[in-house]
Amino acid sequence: MSPSLSTHLSVKSVHIYLSIYLSIYLSIYLSIYHFYIPLHLTPAFLGTCYSKFVWLPHQYHPEQIHLSYGDNPTQMVITWVTLWPTNSTVVEYGISRLDTETQGKETLFIDGGSEKRHIYMHRVKLTSLIPGQKYFYHCGGEKGWSALYFFAAMKSGQSWSPRLAVYGDMGNIKGRSIPRLQEWAQKGKFDAVLHVGDLAYNLDTDNARMGDEFMRQIEPIAAYVPYMVSPGNHEEKYNFSNYKSRFSMPQNGDGENMYYSFDIGPVHVISFSSEVYYFYIDYRYIDKMYDWLKRDLEVANQPENRAVRPWIIALAHKPMYCTNSDDQPICFNKYNPVRVGSSLQVGRGLEDLFCNYGVDIYFAGHEHSYERLLPLYDFMVRNGSFHHPYTNPKATVHIVTGSAGNQEAQDPFKHVDHPFSVYHSDDYGFTMMYVHNVTHIHLQQVSDDKGGKIIDDFWVIKEKVGAPNFKCKKLRN
Ligand SMILES: *[C@@H]1O[C@H](CO)[C@@H](O)[C@H](O)[C@H]1NC(C)=O
Ligand SMILES: *[C@@H]1O[C@H](CO)[C@@H](O)[C@H](O)[C@H]1NC(C)=O
Ligand SMILES: *[C@@H]1O[C@H](CO)[C@@H](O)[C@H](O)[C@H]1NC(C)=O
Ligand SMILES: *[C@@H]1O[C@H](CO)[C@@H](O)[C@H](O)[C@H]1NC(C)=O
Ligand SMILES: [Fe+2]
Repeated sequence: MSPSLSTHLSVKSVHIYLSIYLSIYLSIYLSIYHFYIPLHLTPAFLGTCYSKFVWLPHQYHPEQIHLSYGDNPTQMVITWVTLWPTNSTVVEYGISRLDTETQGKETLFIDGGSEKRHIYMHRVKLTSLIPGQKYFYHCGGEKGWSALYFFAAMKSGQSWSPRLAVYGDMGNIKGRSIPRLQEWAQKGKFDAVLHVGDLAYNLDTDNARMGDEFMRQIEPIAAYVPYMVSPGNHEEKYNFSNYKSRFSMPQNGDGENMYYSFDIGPVHVISFSSEVYYFYIDYRYIDKMYDWLKRDLEVANQPENRAVRPWIIALAHKPMYCTNSDDQPICFNKYNPVRVGSSLQVGRGLEDLFCNYGVDIYFAGHEHSYERLLPLYDFMVRNGSFHHPYTNPKATVHIVTGSAGNQEAQDPFKHVDHPFSVYHSDDYGFTMMYVHNVTHIHLQQVSDDKGGKIIDDFWVIKEKVGAPNFKCKKLRN
């Protein structure tokens, strides 16, 4: 072999190696970081161009499909995600055939993490539904369609009995309640979910891939029944941006899922953010939410409204009362901000408001446990009567249900008698609320540790239809 030939060969092999290396590198780079090619191209444009050469059906596939109630029983909102822009947001649906079509909107969400991941949110609001009717649907568009799902439009009027699963603090790493909730949703055992914050741990984790995974995991629940949410502390990253973008709650509050209300059967449900007292504290924002709550409660509490919809139920993440031994600042704090307002914000606490406007039940999570408290106002027990504390209660009933599967371990209780706590459990599980009728609500705690056993069971009763008879005068300071 002459020296020149050997040089020629090695140069050629370097070329081959380089081109193989480059093409592998490029294809990996393109498939993982396709949004970060250092060119002045928008991802949407890039996606469109790239798709001319490479068809990536999985990137266009609708995923994370979930439902939420619209403004009234004739509406349902369907929200989903694609990882690439599809420029088509369509739901095809119908009673026996997919013979109706509604278009919606695609919006780009940019996560706040280091990768600034782009996720495409698709929202379609179905209108003119027949209340109570079961519909089949699929969603997507010309670049790909989801599987076939079904839902029932909300029944209209007040004379039916909504069945609601209520829980907080679930996540997907240890989401102990997920399997039962998936099964029960598809078997029609509840009409909707109320998830009172700490959805995933966290939606924003790993550049929001944890959020994607969580939303995929709840799809077998949320694609069949409306999945209504409240914000928790684990949603706070980047000013709650994942939470605000991934869900589509009713628009009568702030329009960003932080607070809103809706009617279901004989119940007026209010969801708000307990986190305004803890994160990004801005007194104007606290005022705004407080004023909205007050107006919403005023309307709900008007005698003509209360006569047909006597129950008012409030949902948020952090409780006003609890007895967990490891959370003094929330459970045993006389100045619990949700209850009395932030220290500088005198009069913006919610206990007085809830008492004055007769909020019947307040559900919270955050404490990783289940706890049933007596009717309470200003740390005073306000039983309906000694033997029947929940019949005609004289203050809001507080329930903490934050044990659907958080990965941070359960919050313990010490063996101390607290005069305002009746029952508590550290089993993983969720609460079922059966709104029996205008005078009776049935509550049950389902334990997933005990194979679905009901570990707590009680009724809240108001013998007179309408506003409750609360005593809201403070007896001490
Ligand atoms: C998206 O769809 C609309 C309506 O079908 C069309 O007018 C528009 O040009 C499309 N945009 C892109 C980027 O494909
Ligand atoms: C957070 O978002 C709210 C609206 O949802 C806005 O009013 C507020 O100014 C934001 N705060 C910060 C610190 O960005
Ligand atoms: C309230 O009712 C519970 C349960 O019957 C009872 O144990 C408790 O002592 C009562 N408290 C007051 C102040 O009536
Ligand atoms: C609600 O249901 C309870 C229990 O079945 C019943 O006793 C009560 O009369 C009902 N109330 C009304 C107003 O129908
Ligand atoms: Fe929490």
